[in-house]
Amino acid sequence: MFPLEKFQQIDTPFYYYDTELLRQTLSAIRDNITPEMHVHYAVKACANPKVLSIIAQEGFGADCVSGGEVQAAIDAGFPAEKIVYAGVGKSDREIILGLEHGIFAFNVESIPELEIINQLALQRGKVARVALRINPNVGAHTHANITTGLAENKFGIDMQDMEDVIRRTQEMQGIQFIGLHFHIGSQILEMDDFIALCHRINEIQERLEAAGFPTVSDINVGGGLGVDYQQPNEHPIPDFKAYFQAYKQNLKLRHGQQLHFELGRAIVCQCGTLLTRVLYIKSNPIKNFCIVDAGMTDLIRPALYGSYHHIENLSAQSPSDYVTYDVVGPICESSDVFIKNYGMPRTQRGDIIAIRSAGAYGEIMASGYNCRQLPKGYTTEDLA
Ligand code: LLP
Repeated sequence: MFPLEKFQQIDTPFYYYDTELLRQTLSAIRDNITPEMHVHYAVKACANPKVLSIIAQEGFGADCVSGGEVQAAIDAGFPAEKIVYAGVGKSDREIILGLEHGIFAFNVESIPELEIINQLALQRGKVARVALRINPNVGAHTHANITTGLAENKFGIDMQDMEDVIRRTQEMQGIQFIGLHFHIGSQILEMDDFIALCHRINEIQERLEAAGFPTVSDINVGGGLGVDYQQPNEHPIPDFKAYFQAYKQNLKLRHGQQLHFELGRAIVCQCGTLLTRVLYIKSNPIKNFCIVDAGMTDLIRPALYGSYHHIENLSAQSPSDYVTYDVVGPICESSDVFIKNYGMPRTQRGDIIAIRSAGAYGEIMASGYNCRQLPKGYTTEDLA
């Protein structure tokens, strides 16, 4: 499955993106959406330029959270009219960038932000399309650090303030209010969480209609669909059928209403692998440490969230001789551990180790801590 001989010729650590799997994933999405459904890839998950350009070429939109991401999306070929831009703290410079490119919509999270967007749009003789990000107070069964749709989270506008904020948009000449935006969290595997969001959106639409507000043209339900980190080989493509079905069956769209999604992880996670070489094996009476040349600077998820990533020794000589290792990196932090007490075929210096399901929030979250170089990213085509 992996081009091991090619890997052996490359300096580690590096990310490898299986672009064939990426294309299959994108086509699985296309097979499960209807014409009023639009998927914007959440650039935050992975902004590798080659990955971005494939997603753009396949006709998807982009979901951005900074001016840098808007620029990366434009550079990769995403049309501005398919770009949505969210974030609690957009700077003036970032707003101006979005206005000048004429992006599809700003997802706005507060009245002060709305006022600034209005002002900057008016100064330029433009009208900004705006969706209001509503905090739906819907919990998601996921890690506390990546749940976003609860009242205690910093994101979105509180439901009780919704009508007031909509009225404010109606007074602003530089703002065109087009929709409602939601996002409840990430790595969600229970469809009931998305169904709960649908019910909440149905209630909100009814409440706004009863109060006499015009129906919005766009509903954006954010992203959040999770992947199988335990078994990436068995489940390389997420269950898009069940995911989109949850919305088709539970969300009551009004006539002509367009439904937007912002999927990140589900699109790129399983396509990406972090490749690293074993530097040393070190043992003491209670542990065997497998010290690799990748660290938390290359993939921070295990250190930050305690996340599991499936690990494979691609060059194991004796696949049935299992040994228990802590797989650790070279960074001067005790949390620089990819996994503890992990059974792997006996491993030696020079072996190539694959850290799987690393396509999302992997390369993009890399840092230069300890003056390390950022990992490179290669695609299937690069190594052909
Ligand atoms: N839309 C909004 C408004 C978001 O905040 C996010 C992710 C997404 C879409 C995309 O969510 P996805 O489909 O990828 O679940 N670094 C963490 C994940 C942070 C997610 C932040 N927001 C991790 O490594 O698990």
